[in-house]
Amino acid sequence: MKVLQWHHVCASVDIDEEDVIEFDHEGRLYAIYHTPSGFYATAGHCTHETARLAEGLVFGEIIECPMHMGRFHIPTGAAKGAPVCVNLVTHPVKVENGAVMIGLAQE
Ligand code: FES
Repeated sequence: MKVLQWHHVCASVDIDEEDVIEFDHEGRLYAIYHTPSGFYATAGHCTHETARLAEGLVFGEIIECPMHMGRFHIPTGAAKGAPVCVNLVTHPVKVENGAVMIGLAQE
């Protein structure tokens, strides 16, 4: 059974609105976003090739990949058009006492 474990990412003030940072945990890369509707987390790499999404641009709830300008809807991970066609994996995020936490499944 998989259990969700919460991991501290950063202080909420460390990510400006409409910005994204990278979070590395146990050799895996995640992208942590601050959008107008709140904080979200997805896989750190684009599903098209290997670009790091934290180097992309956030427009509202959209992340634009820095390599070929593919776009994803951040809250759902949905691919929003060519060249990306595979959705991003998303992860739960919560903010507690000013800290951004990511929930990752543990075996
Ligand atoms: Fe992201 Fe190509 S690597 S759109």
